[in-house]
Amino acid sequence: MTTLDELQGALRRAGVDALWISDPSNVRAITGFTSGKDGKVLVTPDGATLYTDARYTVQAAGESSVPQFIARPPDTYLHAAPALKGLRVGFEADHLTVVLLDDLRDHWPDSTLVPVRGLVQGFRLRKDERELDAIREAQRIADAAFTQVRPLIRPGVTELEIALELELAMRRAGAQSAFEIIVASGPNGAKPHGVASSRVIGHNELVTVDMGAQVNGYHSDMTRTVAVGDPSAELRRLYRAVLEAEEAAVAAVGPGVRAADLDHLARDLLTGHGLGVYFAHSLGHGVGLDVHEGPGLRGTSEDVLEPGMVITIEPGVYIPEVGGVRIEDLVLVTETGHEVLSQSEKEVL
Ligand code: GLY
Ligand code: MN
Ligand code: MN
Repeated sequence: MTTLDELQGALRRAGVDALWISDPSNVRAITGFTSGKDGKVLVTPDGATLYTDARYTVQAAGESSVPQFIARPPDTYLHAAPALKGLRVGFEADHLTVVLLDDLRDHWPDSTLVPVRGLVQGFRLRKDERELDAIREAQRIADAAFTQVRPLIRPGVTELEIALELELAMRRAGAQSAFEIIVASGPNGAKPHGVASSRVIGHNELVTVDMGAQVNGYHSDMTRTVAVGDPSAELRRLYRAVLEAEEAAVAAVGPGVRAADLDHLARDLLTGHGLGVYFAHSLGHGVGLDVHEGPGLRGTSEDVLEPGMVITIEPGVYIPEVGGVRIEDLVLVTETGHEVLSQSEKEVL
């Protein structure tokens, strides 16, 4: 992902001498240690150390690309303190809790603690081949699960049963579910993040399924909205409008494209159909060690797409008491344009 040299260079540019990394995905990205939530990394001008506790002695030795120190706080902090004397030490302001910041202040009185944002995340935006292999495999497993379970989405089956079958299929293929699977049928479709419920799927409804797999820590993320029976003309109209916006935004993905422009493109198309007001979230997000990471595809984003980024394009409309539609593809930005990683069929109603 990145070398220690590059990371230390970024620290200097951010005006700090050292960095205390507490975000689990950043810990994993820097060291390869897969239990990032029970690890911290200290980067100094002299190198990097992974701090974790004795439950992970063997695992950390096998996984970590940097030296390890096995201890629990406060011994962790006491061990680090001498090397940090007089230094400006960054901490991850978007992750560290106030209580843990107080702990650092107490134990490192001779250091200046400085909030930094998104520093390691910046190195995670562009995926290397190893990371892409994992994301491709996660998407392949999710596509296979969806194709297998799709025939079960029919009247009389509960949303929870569909979610369970999808999760089982992904587990059997050797992956975990990337997040709690969304199966939103009928009026539940109006809840963009409504999780699967005990609702029984009815006739002539739309059902939105949002799912992903996790392979080697890397995620996939895809949504399909399927028709059960013969949905109303209004629901079909919603579907066609979202599909048009989704396909237009995917087609526009490429290096050098501003993320905000993509959001506007999809939003303007939906607005043209009188549906912009129902598009209740941003167009998409980056996907990697976190399901939601940079770049942000929202109207206010300053991000510009680069080759190696993996993003979602996921416009949706959500109408209270009527239902909703979301279509989400996982897309790799390439040197010349893009590659759509999600292969599950999109139905043409
Ligand atoms: N499942 C969350 C999302 O699509 O962003
Ligand atoms: Mn999703
Ligand atoms: Mn998504």
